[in-house]
Amino acid sequence: MSANQQGCLKVDQYPVIREDKEKRLQQRSKVIWLTGLSAAGKTSIAQNLEIELFSKGYLTQILDGDVIRSGISSNLTYTCEDRFENIRRIAEVSKLFINSGIISINSFISPTDEIRTMARQIIGEDNFLEVYVNAPLEICEKRDPKGLYAKARRGELKDFTGIDSVFEPPQYAQIEVHTDQQTVEESVRQILDYLLPMIEYKINKN
Ligand code: ADX
Repeated sequence: MSANQQGCLKVDQYPVIREDKEKRLQQRSKVIWLTGLSAAGKTSIAQNLEIELFSKGYLTQILDGDVIRSGISSNLTYTCEDRFENIRRIAEVSKLFINSGIISINSFISPTDEIRTMARQIIGEDNFLEVYVNAPLEICEKRDPKGLYAKARRGELKDFTGIDSVFEPPQYAQIEVHTDQQTVEESVRQILDYLLPMIEYKINKN
């Protein structure tokens, strides 16, 4: 791609497409979608996965439930409808990352198959890698790092996932990690083994 004398790209060089950006970044973009209960370990896995990928030269972006809910989704509650809207927004944002060639690591409870299927459809089947971060409810409740399970049990927090709001174990996850039996490093390694061949930059022959 070259610029003309005014420093502008020529009109016939537009648009700059995903493939151009992937080539620039020397990676294939992907959305890694971590689903699971609150305190299952999604955020720790996302952060450690990002560190590993970044150190290997990949450009990544984390989208995390707690962060998103204090910004883009700050007007939403935890009813079914609002969770749906939360995930719809995230899926649309993720699609922008996909088209920028960036690897997006998303950690959201995303509690139902319907919600996850909606995300998968918006993002596109080929771009979507679903990971079930599985830990039994009893373990998540024991961990309770933010004291939210205790609050929910006391009735001070309603629609809390696993207590008075549903979590459906995913049926379509390509990867399942068990954070009550594996260390964060082991879970990350398991995801990397699956992911790295998919994001490695290879020139399309066709
Ligand atoms: S989702 O269901 O819409 O995907 P999301 O991942 O964005 O949820 O947000 C989950 C985070 O919000 C939890 O980690 C927890 O810290 C916080 N939270 C606050 N209230 C609730 C609730 N009622 N249910 C689940 N998580 C809650």
